[in-house]
Amino acid sequence: MGVPPPGLPPCAEGAGSCSGTLEAVDLSLGADLDGFRAAARRLAGRRVPPERVLWSIGEAPGLFGTPTPSPDDEAPLSLPRGVGAMVARVVLHRDPERYALLYELIWRSLHGERRLLEVSSDPLVHRLERMAKAIARDLHKMHAFLRFRRVEAREPERFVAWFEPDHHILGAAAPFFVERFRSLHWTILTPEASARWDGTRLTYGPPGRREDAPAQDGFEAGWRDYYESTFNPARTNLSAMRAEMPKKYWRNMPETAAIPGLVRQAAARTGAMIEREPQMPVKRNPARAVAAMADQAPDSLEALNAIIRRSEPLVPGATQAVLGEGPVGATIAFVGEQPGDQEDRQGRPFVGPAGQLLSRALEEAGIARGEAYLTNAVKHFKFEERGKRRIHQKPTAGEVSHYRWWLDRELDFVAPRLVVALGATAVLALTGKQIPITRARGPAQFEKPYAGFITVHPSYLLRLPDEAKAEAYAAFVADLRRVHDLGRSLAA
Ligand code: URA
Repeated sequence: MGVPPPGLPPCAEGAGSCSGTLEAVDLSLGADLDGFRAAARRLAGRRVPPERVLWSIGEAPGLFGTPTPSPDDEAPLSLPRGVGAMVARVVLHRDPERYALLYELIWRSLHGERRLLEVSSDPLVHRLERMAKAIARDLHKMHAFLRFRRVEAREPERFVAWFEPDHHILGAAAPFFVERFRSLHWTILTPEASARWDGTRLTYGPPGRREDAPAQDGFEAGWRDYYESTFNPARTNLSAMRAEMPKKYWRNMPETAAIPGLVRQAAARTGAMIEREPQMPVKRNPARAVAAMADQAPDSLEALNAIIRRSEPLVPGATQAVLGEGPVGATIAFVGEQPGDQEDRQGRPFVGPAGQLLSRALEEAGIARGEAYLTNAVKHFKFEERGKRRIHQKPTAGEVSHYRWWLDRELDFVAPRLVVALGATAVLALTGKQIPITRARGPAQFEKPYAGFITVHPSYLLRLPDEAKAEAYAAFVADLRRVHDLGRSLAA
């Protein structure tokens, strides 16, 4: 229990509200999500209002004593949609006021303002949204600008990178590198902590120093060549480049040495490129296309969608790119394969026969389609024309990997707590691995900052013989009920 500071009345024993005392909460350095969640449950359970809580970070046990846990402390909070996701994002911010702001959000959401997060004009919501955006930008910069360097004379080969994030994002960013560099042994050093991947396990350790990472390695020239070959002179805009890739990161990035020379040659190269354009093949090299898009560094879902809209399909013919649909901050995101014929015509995901089946199953499982985020691993319809019909063609692994960059960014911005892979293509896009659905169906670990779940694609149910449909559909709805329950527990 808290101790009344001078001038404040003591809290009544067993009373519903402890508004007469100050409660001190000390959380660990960095992003202490578990500590904050436990404290918020305890404080809200005891009806301690935000103005009575003193939040501190990494200090000695509180001035006002350590609260005694009670059974109420374990009771989960029934928070409105989006609040849990906002908490998970904003605890990563370096602002020391973050916990106080988040507790105020929780308190107000529980006391008559359940739709508070939808009121962007509210000063608290506005500030939290800005903080969440700053985190998304910081994560993007770390994903895009971190460079590993090989440590010479080490067996097995090891790679080390130095990076200075603006916020406490190492834990949220590291799973991305596990997925990208799964077969390497690497360490990321930051001034706050380090992350180490030994090929099977990701562990965290003490801070590092810039001088602990090699200054350069034999890959340096390779990076520069790669950058030079993917650099688009027509997009040269130095101030935009500086805004997106602050100089602070340049010294970690070997390819930036090439920038001044490339900028000097940009006008001539643009002219040459325009002349060359008609001979360019329509089908593009996925690796190059990804690198060229990645350097556009969108800082919001809208900016990302603008890039997707402008992009050419890998295989010609699609009417338009079909973007994800649903609220940013949705607790659950569903990832399908690619738009079908109807989706391609209407420009919306999951509106054709498979989408209608999905909607029905979601409803039966108690998931409101409008509250979930729905998207696809591949954003363009790939098909073969047979007479007047456009027959769906499964995307190749190379095509899926071309779109993975988008899907990752998209999910960074949406920040769901749970991502459901519908079918094998979605699993490939989310994990980089071909995994049979029959083996992996159920809760899954995608090594991303969200929980995972794998189930079948609804179009699989449509293709089954009639006598097998009812049973398979019931199993699909049962999976979605588990997704519903999992989503609930993660949002709490
Ligand atoms: N199948 C998918 O995977 N996505 C859609 O949007 C439609 C059908």
